[in-house]
Amino acid sequence: MFRLDFRGTLKRLLNLERTKMSSDTGATSAALALARTLRMGTSLIHVGSEPDATTGAVVPPISLSTTFAQASVGDLPGKLDPNSFGLGYDYSRSTNPTRGSLERCLAAAEGAAHGVGFSSGVAAISACMQLLKPGDKIIAMDEVYGGTQRLLSKVVTPLHGIEVTYMDFTDPSISSSDVQDASMIWLESPTNPCLKITDISRISSLNPNAITVVDNTFSTPYFQNPLQLGADVVVHSCTKSINGHSDVVLGMVLTNSSSLYSSLRFTQNAVGSVPSPFDCYLTLRGLKTLHVRMSYGAANALSIAHFLDSHEGVEAVMYPGLTSHPQHELAKAQMKGGFGTVVTVKVKGCTGTFLSSLKIFVVAEGLGAVESLVSCPAKMSHHGVPAEKKKQLGIDENLVRLSVGLESIDDLLKDLDDALNAGFKARQI
Ligand SMILES: Cc1ncc(COP(=O)(O)O)c(C=O)c1O
Repeated sequence: MFRLDFRGTLKRLLNLERTKMSSDTGATSAALALARTLRMGTSLIHVGSEPDATTGAVVPPISLSTTFAQASVGDLPGKLDPNSFGLGYDYSRSTNPTRGSLERCLAAAEGAAHGVGFSSGVAAISACMQLLKPGDKIIAMDEVYGGTQRLLSKVVTPLHGIEVTYMDFTDPSISSSDVQDASMIWLESPTNPCLKITDISRISSLNPNAITVVDNTFSTPYFQNPLQLGADVVVHSCTKSINGHSDVVLGMVLTNSSSLYSSLRFTQNAVGSVPSPFDCYLTLRGLKTLHVRMSYGAANALSIAHFLDSHEGVEAVMYPGLTSHPQHELAKAQMKGGFGTVVTVKVKGCTGTFLSSLKIFVVAEGLGAVESLVSCPAKMSHHGVPAEKKKQLGIDENLVRLSVGLESIDDLLKDLDDALNAGFKARQI
């Protein structure tokens, strides 16, 4: 008896909500239109974090439920629409309110109509590969994240029959005929770890039939919006600057194309590599300070790049904000208001002594965090890249990637100075 009453009440409630939603049909598009008019600093804080409709909570609660009540079988207005403001959910692998909040927020920042969240950056990259079919061809920038190269060479080609070739897209002689047979063009700009810059508009326009994907992890939407430069899809490892606190692994794919969006949503549900609601909540919280973290971190990074440029313990500095960077002018035109928080250097002397002498920079995989991190890509993130390719790209053992955090710049400069001097002396003994 109680059960029947309960079901009746629930049904009435859901019908009420549905009526509210249908009288509100313009609400979703109005909210998205409003999000587009906001500056990034405002949209990062408010989009996806609207006060909770039932309690007024300014921080919307984390939606942990795996499953959602249905008024009658399949009666789910707004299904598959993470912008449906609390309606249309059936099962959290398919859609989840907290994940939807994060998807909306990052989509607004990238100027995208759609965002699709995944359990890691690599899972997001893998979902993009599933837009292709056997026999298709990917042309990728010659220097991309080591994990992307591993996925391409060990999974995408042998298991899915997709051909992959690499090209140096910084080469100005590359023309349409070079990419005519590509079904997908895969870019990173700046690249990991040597920070090469690709002209996204130019490369995206070379083959209108190819899906151009930009891994925008290093720039974040704060410094670069590839969709506005002509790319079809943007990928983020939100594990890095988007979350920014080294405590979540998560990825996102963003697009303005409704057909690509429905394929990506299908993959998200069918393959099932979805992030947990708690990780989405933490990432949404991190995203609220993206603009402040990126502008402060990039100012630290620029100071460090200048300092290292004139240090006797440094052989070379790579940073798109330095006039000595080969694509500095392109970076200035393509990026907005800064050049990111990663600085790559080739150190002189003993790299091991340099790394072990650092006291503030933590030797660790990863980047884009509030704390400064340092890594040796040849032995860490790009460990699996074949030795001859590493040599060709200049990913040598004395190449060190600094992920500049938000500590006081004087402490960071002193840390680097002391460690470089120690490393330099170690060689001279
Ligand atoms: C540029 C880039 N893309 C993607 C990834 C993979 O992201 P995740 O570690 O979240 O799977 C990384 C990781 O370092 C990266 O640097």
